[in-house]
Amino acid sequence: MRALVYHGPGKKQWEEVPDPVLQADTDAIVRVDAVTICGTDLHILKGDVPAVTDGRILGHEAVGTVTAIGSAVKNIKVGDKVLVSCITACGSCRYCREGSYGQCLGGGGWILGHLIDGTQAEYVRVPFADTSTYAAPAGVSDENLLMLADILPTGYEVGVLNGTVRPGDVVAVVGAGPIGLSAIMGSKLYSPSHIVAIDMADARLEAAKAFGADIVINNSREDALAAVKELTGGLGADVAIEAVGVPATFELSAALIRPGGHVANIGVHGTPATLHLEELWIKNVTITTGLVDTYSTPTLLSLIRGGSLDAGKFITHHFGLDEFMSAYDVFGNAADTGALKVVLTRS
Ligand SMILES: NC(=O)c1ccc[n+]([C@@H]2O[C@H](COP(=O)([O-])OP(=O)(O)OC[C@H]3O[C@@H](n4cnc5c(N)ncnc54)[C@H](O)[C@@H]3O)[C@@H](O)[C@H]2O)c1
Ligand SMILES: [Zn+2]
Ligand SMILES: [Zn+2]
Repeated sequence: MRALVYHGPGKKQWEEVPDPVLQADTDAIVRVDAVTICGTDLHILKGDVPAVTDGRILGHEAVGTVTAIGSAVKNIKVGDKVLVSCITACGSCRYCREGSYGQCLGGGGWILGHLIDGTQAEYVRVPFADTSTYAAPAGVSDENLLMLADILPTGYEVGVLNGTVRPGDVVAVVGAGPIGLSAIMGSKLYSPSHIVAIDMADARLEAAKAFGADIVINNSREDALAAVKELTGGLGADVAIEAVGVPATFELSAALIRPGGHVANIGVHGTPATLHLEELWIKNVTITTGLVDTYSTPTLLSLIRGGSLDAGKFITHHFGLDEFMSAYDVFGNAADTGALKVVLTRS
């Protein structure tokens, strides 16, 4: 089969590789019907995630059709259409029993396209298939379902819920890529008074407006801190959601919040960021950070099916599977191309 293979920082290739095979009786093999690229894949290609080694197939989001199952798999069968979640769950370890699947101790967690071969391929092996896939419901397109593999649960759990967004809040979202936009979409469910989106790319800020941001700030030419202070009578935002993953945006997020406020870090960081405890210690702040667990996937699926969340809004570009190299170029140059989520489908 063909797959998108990582060959060290800055290097990747769509190339011929062996087909995946069942390795454990809890595995399934899934034919990839729709797949996408994540900001985290761009971090990997920058060299920010050293656990990803030369030869690894990237990708941790897919919708596909089951082609083989191990003897212990009970919930899915050959021919079923499934969502392959970015988080794999053994289902029985201490963390899985608490719904903290991202921290799975039994061989799961974020492993696809990280510690084992991922979804940017014609076929993918999915470990612990019973607890790591979701049956595709009728009436939701492959593309829309795909948005539940990572971005929607990530923005909602690690941004909105960890940040405890409440009615009337001023929510500042730093970074308006797919993850920041998903945090905006999730925040809207809680009726904030204002959502402020901050990014350096005008194309992303236009998207933020379309997703419901009330105020957009381009911090390459505007002072985001001054604007948020002015909006909040000098206090600062109730919640700041960091959705970039560089030191400057973490430090900005921490500066943006009011005393008693919350910083919810979502970004994947490759270098140390400074925590200004000399300013923050007296402000009663809460700072959270984490890997998505995907415990909210069923809730978000209900919201999509009920029409309260429009997952299709994220999808800006379509490609065939063998156009992966172009799809990376378009996604990696989002400031110019206006790309949010690029979807690749088998022809
Ligand atoms: N914690 C998790 O479980 C989890 C899961 C998925 C993704 N992520 C991370 O979330 C982050 C966002 O993902 P994405 O897919 O939206 O990425 P993305 O690269 O598409 O978007 C990042 C956005 O940040 C903006 N940006 C860059 N530097 C900035 C700055 N100094 N000030 C303001 N804006 C700036 C860019 O213009 C871009 O719009 C990444 O770090 C990704 O790795 C985390
Ligand atoms: Zn991701
Ligand atoms: Zn587990």
